[in-house]
Amino acid sequence: PKVAVIMGGMSAERDVSLSSGRECAAALRDEGYNVVEVDAGADLAQKLSDIAPDIVFNALHGRWGEDGCVQGLLEWLRIPYTHSGVLSSALAMDKEATKSAYRAAGLPVVPSIIADRDDVRRAHPMQPPYVVKPYNEGSSVGIYIVREDANGPAQLSDDMPERVMVEAYAPGRELTTTVIGGKPLTVTDIITDGWYDYAAKYELGGSRHVVPAEIPQEIFDLCMSYAVRAHEILGCRGVSRTDFRWDEAQGAEGLILLETNTQPGMTPTSLSPEQAQATGMTFGALCSWMVEDASC
Ligand code: DAL
Ligand code: MG
Repeated sequence: PKVAVIMGGMSAERDVSLSSGRECAAALRDEGYNVVEVDAGADLAQKLSDIAPDIVFNALHGRWGEDGCVQGLLEWLRIPYTHSGVLSSALAMDKEATKSAYRAAGLPVVPSIIADRDDVRRAHPMQPPYVVKPYNEGSSVGIYIVREDANGPAQLSDDMPERVMVEAYAPGRELTTTVIGGKPLTVTDIITDGWYDYAAKYELGGSRHVVPAEIPQEIFDLCMSYAVRAHEILGCRGVSRTDFRWDEAQGAEGLILLETNTQPGMTPTSLSPEQAQATGMTFGALCSWMVEDASC
């Protein structure tokens, strides 16, 4: 079959997506697919009509590619595509909607509020330490941490959307679990010197991944079951990855869900391919599985 790998796009995660897309395109070629690489600009609909692929492999991240927009276009064009559909992509991209869904399902989260950017610049919206994030970006783009001893509120840049999410800072370790076809792969413990920020995520050696995580069995099992539950309640399809924070000092009570990624990174430093590898699934097999799972 002819597979169009759509990548790049217009979000703050454009470079991450180009890296994901190139890796997946190369792997799919090795697996024997007829692959066309497409940089997804405003002319995407026209390009797809010209190429007439059997399947679209969505390697986009962030706004327009992970939030239901491109999924809607692909539904409209009646081209089967990988990963989640319109509603679940939109839900998972909106951090507040995601948390409402988690809360309704009884999944643990930290307290948060949605606030006006200018209000948050003027005064602390909650007792520090807290985190200010755009409600709709990934890869830690635009995240501000206001520490306990901060002199004043965060100096948010004008690139920040007018509405932001303010979340109580959850201390502890970064854990993550990928779900594929409704089944959890494993748990990775992400070890960084400081914050797991954009550089730590994508520079080689920027962070160290322990997979499977060396954590108590109870916490490991909770991550596995919470990740599946999150995938289900958000209505995800194909592959998703749920990120956690775990405060060891609090035992099982210290485990909270941060977010579910419906378009997990597929770059050389990304977590989901590494988890697949750790459970015996090669990168090529993972990409092929996604293509075979595509629908619309
Ligand atoms: N947002 C990046 C791509 C990830 O979650 O892997
Ligand atoms: Mg994310």
